[in-house]
Amino acid sequence: MLRLGVLTGGGDCPGLNAVIRAVAKTAFAAGYELIGFKDGYAGLVEGRSVLLDAPAISGLLHRGGTILGTNNRDNPFHYPVRLGEEVVYRDLSDQAVENLEKMQIQALIAIGGDGSLAVARDLKNKGARVVGVPKTIDNDLAATDQTFGFDTAVRTATEALDKLHTTAESHHRVMVLELMGRYAGWIALHSGIAGGADVILLPEIPWNIEAVLRKIMARKAEGKPFSIVVVAEGARSPEGELVVQRRVEDSAEKIRLGGIGHLVGRLIEEKSGIETRVTVLGHIQRGGSPSSFDRVLATRFGVAAAELAIQGVYGVMVCLQGNRIAHVPLEEATAKPRTVPPDHELIHTARAIGISFGDR
Ligand code: F6P
Repeated sequence: MLRLGVLTGGGDCPGLNAVIRAVAKTAFAAGYELIGFKDGYAGLVEGRSVLLDAPAISGLLHRGGTILGTNNRDNPFHYPVRLGEEVVYRDLSDQAVENLEKMQIQALIAIGGDGSLAVARDLKNKGARVVGVPKTIDNDLAATDQTFGFDTAVRTATEALDKLHTTAESHHRVMVLELMGRYAGWIALHSGIAGGADVILLPEIPWNIEAVLRKIMARKAEGKPFSIVVVAEGARSPEGELVVQRRVEDSAEKIRLGGIGHLVGRLIEEKSGIETRVTVLGHIQRGGSPSSFDRVLATRFGVAAAELAIQGVYGVMVCLQGNRIAHVPLEEATAKPRTVPPDHELIHTARAIGISFGDR
């Protein structure tokens, strides 16, 4: 039996279903069937799967989320096992690899961000045949120029900024918008430029409130008594602290960022006397239909991953290099995060049109 497997791991993002669809269509054309594991690596460890046949993958291209389910906690190498009231953690990675063999799956296509791809790498080191596909709204994987999901998140954030603009202008207020992205400021940087932000605060550029106020007050002096401030959730406080919303103890990545927007808004209102409101866009950035760019990228990644799996090229992640689809070893894919270089051309562009990063 010619058979591939697929799973979606980590936080969801628009375009996951488009990858599943592309993997499936490529597999079918080569005479393979496709098994989908439910809820990320949990389904692989527990042997919970579903046959993804032609009817199952119909109507998926524009659908947000993932039909397979996902989670950003369960790791086969540190897997939660319930013993009565107690939860203990066991290494069930052998079971995960055995399940692939038992089900006669030639290769597993793991669609995930840094955490899920690190698990894919470790399973590969135990003998599993794996091909990775990079996904995340954060766009923070160094080995690919872009992940799918990012473009849609930027569009959603830009639409939010367009809406905040009109109400900011009417009320002569400062509007602060906190955006996701973890430790990388890509969503904030792109949507801040696209949405006409006056100030963008990023994790990569330390800021101070005096510089932020200088920009806001200069606008007021020019007859623009409203301002738009975009804050990435990973931007640090003026004291250099990350603002943490919660800790998820059973997740490999325990910290969930959030709250810096309110801190920034409070400081601006206190020190400028201008009425300030704060919006935290949150998971809206991860939801909904993928943009056409993300549908195309997801389809390209899905086709490339399935073709590699069928050709027997394992232990790699597909990626975008310029406008070319390529692949890199999973070790390279997970080696380092991609954050915004402070001398990036987009930072220069933004500064040239008067956007402040709160540092000068
Ligand atoms: O990695 C994607 C992401 O949406 C980040 O931007 C955000 O910090 C995190 O996931 C939120 O995680 P959760 O869904 O667990 O709240």
